[in-house]
Amino acid sequence: MNHRSLAISSAEFARRRRRLMDSLPGGAIVLAAGHDAARNNDVDHEYRQASSFWYLTGFDEPDAVAVLRPGSHTPYALFVRPYDPTFEIWVGHRAGVRGAVGPLAANAAYPLEQLDAQLPKLLADCDTIHYALGSDDRLDGIISGLVKRRRSMAQRGLKSVRRIEDPTASIDLMRQQKSDAEIGLLQHAIDITAQGFDAAMRAAAPGVHEYEVQAALERPFRQLGSPRNGYPSIVAGGANACILHYVRNRDALGADDLLLIDAGAEYGYYTADVTRTWPVSGKFTGPQRALYDLVLESQRKAIAAVKPGVGFDDVHRVATTTLVDGLITLGILDGTTDDVMERQAYRDYYMHATSHWLGLDVHDSGPYRDDKGQTRLRPGMVLTVEPGLYFGPQAKQTPEIYQGIGIRIEDDVLVTADGCRVLSEAIPSEPSELEAIVADAR
Ligand code: GLY
Ligand code: MN
Ligand code: MN
Repeated sequence: MNHRSLAISSAEFARRRRRLMDSLPGGAIVLAAGHDAARNNDVDHEYRQASSFWYLTGFDEPDAVAVLRPGSHTPYALFVRPYDPTFEIWVGHRAGVRGAVGPLAANAAYPLEQLDAQLPKLLADCDTIHYALGSDDRLDGIISGLVKRRRSMAQRGLKSVRRIEDPTASIDLMRQQKSDAEIGLLQHAIDITAQGFDAAMRAAAPGVHEYEVQAALERPFRQLGSPRNGYPSIVAGGANACILHYVRNRDALGADDLLLIDAGAEYGYYTADVTRTWPVSGKFTGPQRALYDLVLESQRKAIAAVKPGVGFDDVHRVATTTLVDGLITLGILDGTTDDVMERQAYRDYYMHATSHWLGLDVHDSGPYRDDKGQTRLRPGMVLTVEPGLYFGPQAKQTPEIYQGIGIRIEDDVLVTADGCRVLSEAIPSEPSELEAIVADAR
């Protein structure tokens, strides 16, 4: 794999802040980082920056606050955890106030303990504050306190705050369309993920446990520089694949099982989201193959539909209609395609959406509909295409040969000027290729 050094440039972070300020004229924008979360006793969960805060600042420490004030003498101020020599000994380096103005390009930085005193000053002239109320308890309190004070002082000449507006939708809209640098990071996360899938396909065998396959899957992720997964890996043998977000990963694989893995390495804060399903034995049974071929056909048709101007829901409709046609042909569903679609009678077997946006978050931000209806695809958007079929406990009425089968095939798809590019196409989904990899591993 090409070990490119990839990152978002500080100029790109600055352009994002500029674009956000341009889209929210008048007033100031206040953004909150994430916070540490306790796991058990004095152990915290690993910290991972809130995606939108990262998107706009490139700053990865908890508790920080960014204040954007277009046109003022400090258009970009950051409140950060201060340099702390004891913290440095026990935990490691922090940017501190100096590190925030230098590499992060803030015009001013303050230690967090000055937030209560400084924020009202920074917002003194603003009659609109763009802030997502409810996103941060401390900021909620400070902002509501300053609104109250300015109202009570209005007669003495202080300008009152007239509007608190939520900037989330504007940020989400920006995040929905990826830059070349973002696509580079996504591709790198997906390339790392591909190495993991190859290792997992070679590790899975009858009697091997799901967690052992998970270890084989994630070893290349870490070795290739992915610091964490974008979400917990789903490594689901046999009927466990019918549990959509199965993450227990403790069972042994059976010789006749299919194995479904849904996993994505994160790289540079962007995550892959890929699912493959293959036979542990290296050979599909007849019923497994019939359903697998149907899911693959559904996925291919849905991917073929992805191009600018097509509606987000239309991709789902193509995938679902194909599944329904096939389920009727197999005798699993009765009726006509239109009738089954109308009644959504397929939902016992296909109960999730075909796609979601992908980026900094696995279920990335950005609207799925607007005033005009469903969101239309535009170049630079990245979505998953992930149809599946599941014959879990809800499908008891189906022929026994299908029961316990769960299949999903998921790829990551970039909308281009004239169609799309499957960023995860290097990971095989063709049955003969899957069978060949397992045979090669034995
Ligand atoms: N891995 C979660 C999903 O596919 O949406
Ligand atoms: Mn997905
Ligand atoms: Mn997935």
